[in-house]
Amino acid sequence: MERTYVMVKPDGVQRNLVGEIISRFEKKGLKIAALKMLQITRELAERHYGEHKGKPFFEPLVEYITSGPVVAMVLEGKDAVSTARDMMGATNPLKAAPGTIRGTFGMDIGRNVIHGSDAVESAGREINIFFAPEEIIEYKRAT
Ligand code: CMP
Repeated sequence: MERTYVMVKPDGVQRNLVGEIISRFEKKGLKIAALKMLQITRELAERHYGEHKGKPFFEPLVEYITSGPVVAMVLEGKDAVSTARDMMGATNPLKAAPGTIRGTFGMDIGRNVIHGSDAVESAGREINIFFAPEEIIEYKRAT
């Protein structure tokens, strides 16, 4: 079963959107395989967003993602990566379709509420950065 890495960013936590966002994924049918709140350090931010190093938005991005706690999770299910991304909407909330998470809750690309892995390969890398293997739980759901 495919896994993806999803993270409610500091603005999502500050705006009390954690429950609403997790609820959307649960109702959709994606399974929560791991879940925790953490404060991202600069070192962790630079690892996670390494591909953006050198871009003009890199420094503001690191400042923002380390500005307060995030809620990190591993979601599991069929086509979990693309399913979660479709639910999040475009990176720029102004371009995100109405009804998607960013389309519903955001206005600013630099404060876009949520992050989700963009491919199966990056999902594996990001899950490894944020979770130890024993934090990812295998269990059966009733439905
Ligand atoms: P995310 O999906 O977490 O991946 C990279 C992040 O960089 C992105 O969401 C945005 O929050 C942030 N960002 C800020 N400015 C830009 C930009 N101009 N283009 C792409 N991403 C940006």
